[in-house]
Amino acid sequence: MTYGQPFVGTDSGPELLRQAGLRKMLSALGWRVEDVPDLEFEALQLSEKSGTFEGNAKNHKLVGAGCEMLANAVEKTLKQKRFPLILGGDHSIGMGSLAGILRAQPETGVIWIDAHADLNTPALSESGNMHGMPVGMLMEGVAPDHRQIPGLEWLADGPRLSPDSIVYVGLRDVDPAERRLIQSLDIAAYTMHEIDRYGIGQVMEMALDHLCAKNPNRPLHLSYDIDAVDPVLAPATGTTVRGGLTFREAHYVAEAVAYTGNLASAEIVELNPSLSCGEGAEATVELGLQLITSFMGKSII
Ligand code: ARG
Ligand code: MN
Ligand code: MN
Repeated sequence: MTYGQPFVGTDSGPELLRQAGLRKMLSALGWRVEDVPDLEFEALQLSEKSGTFEGNAKNHKLVGAGCEMLANAVEKTLKQKRFPLILGGDHSIGMGSLAGILRAQPETGVIWIDAHADLNTPALSESGNMHGMPVGMLMEGVAPDHRQIPGLEWLADGPRLSPDSIVYVGLRDVDPAERRLIQSLDIAAYTMHEIDRYGIGQVMEMALDHLCAKNPNRPLHLSYDIDAVDPVLAPATGTTVRGGLTFREAHYVAEAVAYTGNLASAEIVELNPSLSCGEGAEATVELGLQLITSFMGKSII
């Protein structure tokens, strides 16, 4: 998926992760792997008519149709008691992942690792880029009437994410409308400021406690946007923001989530190797692979 933002190349993330040895790495950790080929969003060939809905959502038909395919795949995988590891693609796919997850396991808690809140809707977004909307499109009290948005009608009656079922870690570039929502809905947001103040260890303890205190067995979904990591380490992504997670903080997040034993699904998004020359692209893919390794259960000793 690359239609949720303006740059080409985000759709090559999955193939590069495969080439970097994802399958072998997962097998070495003890996973039995079925590599499902890329979903073919291009083949959808949809005419992009601008709908009559309020606001702006670029490529809403393509993004909507692609996310519908993904939602069905994720729902099915979870219902088979298997672990969907979702490779992006830009973060608009989070809409599909969340929709499928909520249908299969509505009690899921979501850990959103990102420089951005992705809490926009077509009516709120300043850019119209749908990779800034996956959380907003699914959240109770924020989501729009999807019947009005061509491509997204399938989302109209699905379950919604409650504001207390998500935690953010790593935020540092939040739009004014998103900030208002985070405050008014009292969403748990551990920004870079809290990471500086408390350290990543305490932040993850608070974040996981927020989601799991009442239900220690609650299934968790990890949505890892590579732009959460500092752009010095992860330059090959579309919306870099300085002052991100260090190498160890980025890994610690993944390790802490794995350590709960509750992780039921995960996605990694926004790797765009075409946005950085040679070495930076390779380093970003390599980092992505290492982070997957960590949240899929690799421990240091
Ligand atoms: N908040 C901005 C927007 O809505 C940036 C979103 C960036 N999202 C991302 N997944 N990289 O356009
Ligand atoms: Mn982001
Ligand atoms: Mn994101």
